[in-house]
Amino acid sequence: MKIVFLVIIALISSSLAAKVTYNVASFGAKGDGNTDSTKAFLSAWSSACNSTKSAVIYVPTGTYLIAKAITFAGEKCQSGSITIRIYGTLVAPFDYDAIANSGDWIRFHRVSHVTISGGTLDARGGSLWSCKTSGKSCPSGATTLGIYNSKNIVISGLKSLNSQMFHILLDTCINAKLQGVSISASGSSPNTDGIHLMSSTGVTIVNSKITTGDDCISIGPGNSNLWIESVACGPGHGISIGSLGWELDEPGVQNITVTRATFRGTQNGVRIKTWARASHGFVTGAVFQHVTMVNVSNPIIIEQNYCPGNNNCPDQVSGVRVKDVVYEDIHGTSASLVAVKLDCNQGNPCSGIRLKDVNLNYVRAGKPQPAVSSCAYAQGTASGILQPTSCL
Ligand SMILES: *[C@@H]1O[C@H](CO)[C@@H](O)[C@H](O)[C@H]1NC(C)=O
Ligand SMILES: *[C@@H]1O[C@H](CO)[C@@H](O)[C@H](O)[C@H]1NC(C)=O
Ligand SMILES: *[C@@H]1O[C@H](CO)[C@@H](O)[C@H](O)[C@H]1NC(C)=O
Repeated sequence: MKIVFLVIIALISSSLAAKVTYNVASFGAKGDGNTDSTKAFLSAWSSACNSTKSAVIYVPTGTYLIAKAITFAGEKCQSGSITIRIYGTLVAPFDYDAIANSGDWIRFHRVSHVTISGGTLDARGGSLWSCKTSGKSCPSGATTLGIYNSKNIVISGLKSLNSQMFHILLDTCINAKLQGVSISASGSSPNTDGIHLMSSTGVTIVNSKITTGDDCISIGPGNSNLWIESVACGPGHGISIGSLGWELDEPGVQNITVTRATFRGTQNGVRIKTWARASHGFVTGAVFQHVTMVNVSNPIIIEQNYCPGNNNCPDQVSGVRVKDVVYEDIHGTSASLVAVKLDCNQGNPCSGIRLKDVNLNYVRAGKPQPAVSSCAYAQGTASGILQPTSCL
């Protein structure tokens, strides 16, 4: 009996010892909203990273000023896993110049097995948006949270507010799960994409809510095996694969699933956009299914002549091959007459497009009316309920 007891105690203490917690407050962070806590966060990271055990960085409630761009570098970490458990809010300075030329406000580089759980990141981008919309010359702004060359990342229950530029960027990452993420910026804020993915594979985004002035989720070149489920978008520009095809030698996009999404008052629903330029890029295997559209201007759209603002458009033929794209159970309302627009090109038609159970009404002045679809060089099949009538 005694021995069993001792063994149990030994097991409990070894499992406790297998994890070590670093509280940012004990490194000098102050949740008073005014004291720059950048150094304290970096010191906590450095200790967690040097630890030979699994580490937790604990951020208590309070408002922490992160006054400069901060990088959490992982290449030399000993720790098998680091969890950053945030109960508080991290804020950027009101003066946008403090971070606007840094690329990212909060950057993770070459990390592995990192979890960011809870917390709010407020980049206070409003003053930069005003600068941009006034037409003055201003910096492009920082991404709030940029994660590069990393793997096995979890972001859970994080809130991002008022980014200067993108809210969250994953670039060259393998295996990331974003769940219960909430992103919010004004519907008129410029370039505030919710989640931008570049050259990444195995990214899952679930149960998230994204309100922005630009793309809800944008999927750039080189992404594969993405799963996006139960995401609510709007306002904003919708979920986009693209823009693609700016570069001649560009990696393609493969195996993308968007399921159970809702779009409310967005400029687009599910979109594929490519520049009209020569490119070896491609999109192969995209599934958009079980999607609800509420007053969306372009619910289903492929545009191979993408050129925002019609400024200095390349006006060539997009070389991006778009192939095997499925739209299934897409229903709701369109804010414009053309609810389905598949605009490909003669030199490079879209192929293997499948429409199944697409039911979209154009609502004008509160009255539902038949919507129409428009195709250019789009090939494929249509089945089930088709409203508007398919143009394939
Ligand atoms: C972590 O390790 C590096 C190199 O091994 C050292 O330079 C640094 O001071 C260590 N940091 C802490 C907080 O122990
Ligand atoms: C496609 O991506 C999903 C994850 O979204 C993955 O489970 C599946 O194995 C991938 N399919 C292929 C053929 O790679
Ligand atoms: C629907 O969207 C259009 C265009 O974005 C907008 O002008 C209109 O007010 C919206 N209608 C409703 C009922 O929200």
